[in-house]
Amino acid sequence: MNGERGQGRWFRRSVLGLLIAGVLTGHLLVPVVHQVPHDLFIRLYYLPIALGGVWFGLWGGLGTAGLITLLYLPHILFVDHGNLTFGYLLEIPVFLGVGLLTGLIVERQAQYRRGLEAQAETLARSHRELQEQTRLLLEKETQLRRADRLSALGQLSAGLAHEIRNPLGAIKGAVEILEEDYPAGHPKAEFYAIILKEVKRLNDVVTNFLNFARPVAPHFAPVDVREVLTGLEGLISGQARAYRVQIFTSFHVGPARVMVDEALLKQAFLNIALNALEAMPDGGDLAISTRLADPATAGILDAEPRQEWVEAIFDDTGCGILEEHLGRVFDPFFTTKKDGTGLGLAITYRIIENHRGIIRVMSQPGKGTTFVITLPLEGAMQT
Ligand SMILES: Nc1ncnc2c1ncn2[C@@H]1O[C@H](COP(=O)(O)OP(=O)(O)OP(=O)(O)O)[C@@H](O)[C@H]1O
Ligand SMILES: [Mg+2]
Repeated sequence: MNGERGQGRWFRRSVLGLLIAGVLTGHLLVPVVHQVPHDLFIRLYYLPIALGGVWFGLWGGLGTAGLITLLYLPHILFVDHGNLTFGYLLEIPVFLGVGLLTGLIVERQAQYRRGLEAQAETLARSHRELQEQTRLLLEKETQLRRADRLSALGQLSAGLAHEIRNPLGAIKGAVEILEEDYPAGHPKAEFYAIILKEVKRLNDVVTNFLNFARPVAPHFAPVDVREVLTGLEGLISGQARAYRVQIFTSFHVGPARVMVDEALLKQAFLNIALNALEAMPDGGDLAISTRLADPATAGILDAEPRQEWVEAIFDDTGCGILEEHLGRVFDPFFTTKKDGTGLGLAITYRIIENHRGIIRVMSQPGKGTTFVITLPLEGAMQT
């Protein structure tokens, strides 16, 4: 680019030089007695002067006029031009004036153009920033709406669980009393055992559901995300083998400690990993990796510029998610599976949110899905 501009300059200088040389030669060769052609050559000096101004601005116009004056003056002074000498000398201030004016006008115009270009650039930048802010705001709004629905779900399920648990407690108590009438070995005693076992199972299911849906008080401690992921890999390796899914891990070198509730984070990662396995019933690859994140690309709107983030990435080669489903996968009860509850990702979403993190999903139907979880590195939890 600079080279091209340099070449252009040299080309213009050469043209200017040739033009001046040509006009000067004509001027010197045509004797003053042939006044019309002689004067024509003098007028022709204005051509390189104007060109100098147009091509090289103020100093180009003045410089060319000055150079022509230097070449022109000795000829006027030392060759006898009779009573025309004074008129020819007067031409010199006009040369300089034309050079000055052309240069000034061209520079003004260039300045004006540069101003317009700068304004256009500023406008374009503001437009881009505005677009980016709008996108982030829309994303935040979606997150807020989702959080709303999740807290409603939490309240609903807390009430529901309460309603179920109390009668379960009563059933259990009553069965325990009735059980005393049937000593061990009695044919009906085993029915009481079954009732108690099933009551306990129901109670566990409700408790688990409650723990998931209602925010439990997390116990934050500094944990290396890579260790959580390594633990997770061990946890799902058996199931992965059954699905004929190969797991690949690649972790970044450097800081990865985040303030988390390890059990909750593991739960969140497990939900994502299990979904990935379920999306690859005929086998495939699941790549689990970590990297340090840039807040801008992670869509962290109010991030401090110096805040550091770490990302955990789950990349599968499964069935992918249809575009019209992509915005709903974190919604409670959204499922495309016959026996899915649609709660896995809703819970995951809330866990990540409680850790002041962000979860994003990208997918190409038929090719695979990527979940990216961005978490603030240790030191970011206290604000
Ligand atoms: N890795 C993935 N590949 C393809 N689809 C996915 C993936 N992860 C999630 N989904 C889609 O998102 C939906 C919601 O997932 P979520 O984990 O919340 O519920 P679920 O897996 O259907 O049920 P549950 O987790 O309760 O067993 C899934 O039904 C599936 O359609
Ligand atoms: Mg799931």
